[in-house]
Amino acid sequence: MGWYEENVVPKIVDLACGSKNMNRWRQKAVVGLHGEIVEIGFGSGRNVELYPEGLQKVFAVEPSNKASTMAMERIASSNVVIERVGLVGEDLPLSDNSCDGALCTFTLCTVSDPVKVLSEIRRVLKPGASFHFLEHGLSPDASIAKWQHRLNGFEQKIAGGCNLTRDPLALLKEAGCEVEVIRQRYAKGPKPWSYFTVGTARWPNG
Ligand SMILES: C[S@@+](CC[C@H](N)C(=O)[O-])C[C@H]1O[C@@H](n2cnc3c(N)ncnc32)[C@H](O)[C@@H]1O
Repeated sequence: MGWYEENVVPKIVDLACGSKNMNRWRQKAVVGLHGEIVEIGFGSGRNVELYPEGLQKVFAVEPSNKASTMAMERIASSNVVIERVGLVGEDLPLSDNSCDGALCTFTLCTVSDPVKVLSEIRRVLKPGASFHFLEHGLSPDASIAKWQHRLNGFEQKIAGGCNLTRDPLALLKEAGCEVEVIRQRYAKGPKPWSYFTVGTARWPNG
């Protein structure tokens, strides 16, 4: 990770993803999480204040030391036990069938191999446990999608590898999930960045 990615991107992300409107979306993603979960791409801990009652422990997975440092105050003021256990979602240092849930917000857009991350999530979830997600992604409108493809290279450079052109539902389908979409529409903000999908996913026979 270069200096800009390590020191500047976490601050940009923390600001860009920290509005009240974002929290309304985040709240939908965290509903129902309980017990011990893994959160992939924990970032600066923007979800911490929204964790529901009944959530006891979070295994945080995050490559950026800067973002993890920024998260410390939020972690300290939470009743939930939060432990950073690993760096990347493609290789979770957790046992098979060990988690009551998984959470990922605005991260499948950025990870190197989203299908590998989803297969790791599947591995660590207990049978029947669900994966909660909130992602921005490819717009269904051709004119917006065209702009997303045009802007993608720029986005990757300034936003730490983030992609505007990934379709989270297509990725979940490829990973074999059954998905319940809670909401999918444009959020506030410029449309290439704001086609959001929030929902839960389970693996059949998982
Ligand atoms: C756009 S930020 C979102 C942060 C946080 N989830 C939020 O909602 O504010 C994407 C996060 O994914 C992290 N990340 C990048 N590659 C990753 C990987 N392979 N596995 C896990 N996290 C990754 C980044 O460091 C960054 O913190």
